[in-house]
Amino acid sequence: MSSDRVFIFDTTLRDGEQSPGATLHTHEKLDIAKQLARLKVDVIEAGFPAASPGDLDAVAEIARTVGKPEGPIICGLARANPQDIAKCWEAVQHAARPRIHTFLATSDIHVQHKLRMTRAEVIATVGDMVALAKQYCDDIEFSPEDAGRSDPEFLYQVLAAAVASGARTINIPDTVGYTTPEEFGGLIRDIIAHTSGVRERDVVVSVHTHDDLGLAVANALAGVRAGARQVECTINGIGERAGNCSLEEVVMALYVRKPFYGLVTGIDSPEIHRTSDMVSRYTGLVVQPNKAIVGANAFAHEAGIHQDGMLKHKRTYEIMDAELVGAPESKLVLGKHSGRHAFRNRLVDLGYELDEAQVNEAFRRFKELSDKKKRVTDADIEAILGEQLYQPIEVWHLEQVQVICGNKNIPTATVLLRREDGEELASTAMGTGPVDAVYQAIQKIVQAPNQLIEYTVQGVTAGIDAVGDVTVRVQGEGELLRVNPQTGPHRTIYSGRGVDTDIIVASAKAYVQALNRLILTARERKEAV
Ligand code: KIV
Ligand code: ZN
Repeated sequence: MSSDRVFIFDTTLRDGEQSPGATLHTHEKLDIAKQLARLKVDVIEAGFPAASPGDLDAVAEIARTVGKPEGPIICGLARANPQDIAKCWEAVQHAARPRIHTFLATSDIHVQHKLRMTRAEVIATVGDMVALAKQYCDDIEFSPEDAGRSDPEFLYQVLAAAVASGARTINIPDTVGYTTPEEFGGLIRDIIAHTSGVRERDVVVSVHTHDDLGLAVANALAGVRAGARQVECTINGIGERAGNCSLEEVVMALYVRKPFYGLVTGIDSPEIHRTSDMVSRYTGLVVQPNKAIVGANAFAHEAGIHQDGMLKHKRTYEIMDAELVGAPESKLVLGKHSGRHAFRNRLVDLGYELDEAQVNEAFRRFKELSDKKKRVTDADIEAILGEQLYQPIEVWHLEQVQVICGNKNIPTATVLLRREDGEELASTAMGTGPVDAVYQAIQKIVQAPNQLIEYTVQGVTAGIDAVGDVTVRVQGEGELLRVNPQTGPHRTIYSGRGVDTDIIVASAKAYVQALNRLILTARERKEAV
């Protein structure tokens, strides 16, 4: 407990994936887990194995591939019941360092209305279930869900039962993001002081905060100041409702303010930006431009007064270097006449290790872009690489899209799609606008019942020739519900993202990607679409 090392427990693949629209497929989870290992997180919470056979397989695959002896601990979540715990072990056992994380709610509102248990039953269940988990695995973490709104005296008793049964980490969730930093820090201090066994057995106290009041990072930092030595967080702060504590923010706060906190993490910070981009692309959850550390504007200095100050002394307006978090510089790098060699060198400088086929494909995309756009910046290159590399498996591929529209025409679209077996299908449809017409034409071919619930477009870079970045979210109709470990069954939302200088093409790509996700999920769950 006296150590100055803070463990970073990443739950992007579990709590992060519980964000509406963030559904990930096995290969995407695996890619993210590999990147989290490069980022050097200490623990990866890889999923909730009891949710479905597909979820269990994904956690097992991550345990086998990423859970190497020198790699991170691989953890799975389990409700405090024997079935969930057995399924969790089935998945994480393949890791060199497996962990079972089990939880049960402790606030009166949860205990009375959700669990319908007495306090005595809660204490007994926690003791029994941690002991059961301990029979499978030595490394057990326990969380009292909604600890932030629980009676502290009761909390100490529940936590003491978990510790007595062998929990090595007790994680304190502010499940609904209700507490303030002063309260949460005080709660952690009190838990360490009053929970029997915590100090004697050197149990790690962990914090797990949500952002409903925008206080997740502040609360986590207050918890760490009070003695917590593990922080549970997600990349880009994604998660249920307003999200979780953001990994990049808490890590960089500890780094930049080391003289204040006197603590260290093991994170390889230059990997932050790439991880953020990968998670954003795979989940379809776009990072807001003004987001700390990873937002597009986080290191941009546009106002004249700031630029003047920056030229005189960099630290006037910048508390850390962009390179420290791996942010790409948005400078002019290459143009229409740049050759393959220069392009490849730029990829290496940006930190990409691609094989020959990937470089060829990236170069083809770059040439296509530089024909349309004079200034190709690092940010553009990251955008085309993101679109190339972080893709779901393609059941349908957009070959062509053509639209007729204008103030005197009924918007009409023709699309040509290629199915995974190579067959090409075309269709034409009219719509209320060009995007609607394109979506109707695509749906005529794909026929995956869905409802479009969100459509957003933004520019990757500034200017008339900017690359457009479109995100859509669709909700499948008539499919099986997915189990959320905390809130129960719910309808899944699928995201898709497309990038192109033509926003109609970007829109079509985004829609096809969302439908591919919907179809793949149905396949993983063995449903008909
Ligand atoms: O927010 C929460 O309470 C959780 C627990 C399952 C740890 O995510
Ligand atoms: Zn949570």
